[in-house]
Amino acid sequence: MPEMDIQKTIQTLEREFRSDLDALSDSRTLDAVRVKYLGRKGKISGLFKAMGELSPDNKRLAGQYLNALKEQIQSALDEKTAVKGSAAAEVDTLDITLPGNRPALGHYHPLSVVLRQITDCFKGMGFAIAQGPDVEREYYNFEALNIPKGHPARDMQDTYFVSGDIVLRTHTSPVQIHVMEKQKPPVRIIAPGRCYRRDTPDSTHSPVFHQVEGLCVDEGISFADLKGVIQTFAKRMLGSDMKIRFRPSFFPFTEPSAEYDFSCVMCRGKGCRICKGTGWVEISGAGMVNPSVFQFVDYDSEKYTGFAFGMGVERIAMLLYEVHDIRLFYENDIRFLRQF
Ligand code: DAH
Repeated sequence: MPEMDIQKTIQTLEREFRSDLDALSDSRTLDAVRVKYLGRKGKISGLFKAMGELSPDNKRLAGQYLNALKEQIQSALDEKTAVKGSAAAEVDTLDITLPGNRPALGHYHPLSVVLRQITDCFKGMGFAIAQGPDVEREYYNFEALNIPKGHPARDMQDTYFVSGDIVLRTHTSPVQIHVMEKQKPPVRIIAPGRCYRRDTPDSTHSPVFHQVEGLCVDEGISFADLKGVIQTFAKRMLGSDMKIRFRPSFFPFTEPSAEYDFSCVMCRGKGCRICKGTGWVEISGAGMVNPSVFQFVDYDSEKYTGFAFGMGVERIAMLLYEVHDIRLFYENDIRFLRQF
């Protein structure tokens, strides 16, 4: 056999071995490959035998090539065996009793938690949830609520004007109007949502905050119904020892109007730093729907009466969680949020 042919034979064999090696899938086939090439009746010894017929020069050359290939195959197979061995060892030492890495679970923002508790309380009393837009016409935010032109709340200093008569709603009261335009009495809704005011942020003011509006209209609704609803809410939300009180006040959209307080969540009415020693904390405003508001929505004020109330969500969350700065709810500091 000439020199060229020896090289060719060796190369072909090497190629065949490489493709066998690539196709290996388990240790059984690894053994089969070893036998195929290095076994007593394998390809390598077959070639060694065939070398007997070569001329002495070519025999020496073929011997060199063949020995080199044999070593190559040997070490390639040894390497494969070692890799498979260590993979097997890894499987053997896998401790399935070790706890896995738990994925981090998110949770509700404290304001969402409180908002849910508030809406659940009112749902339990038969109130439906209503919604209105954050971006409002002045008509809904002011006019139909009997807030006349020239009222300080309409001032550029207090309200975010978008353009023309479009504003970011300064309270959730406009939802009252939307609901009454669409629905005839009886009406019993709460409207939770975001509100916006041009306030400089400090510990009790945020340009964005949340309110829950309440509205109940039917024949024969009285101030006593309002007190009953607020009383029931306070006890369910904050505990059965909660007391409420109403103080006379003024809102253009209610007549008579009141501001209402809860007994202090911290000291339960004894007097502390939070309630400045009074035992009471102010929650928001309420009253009987002003007949002039009914005119805007075509309700017969001779036939129907109603009550309305507002509620500051941040205010309640701050009392409940002893948070002393409203800005914390909006800074998204994970160290703060993790506590809820
Ligand atoms: N809209 C009022 C505010 O933002 C709160 C309020 C007062 C709502 C009296 C009412 C109400 O429904 O009857 O300050």
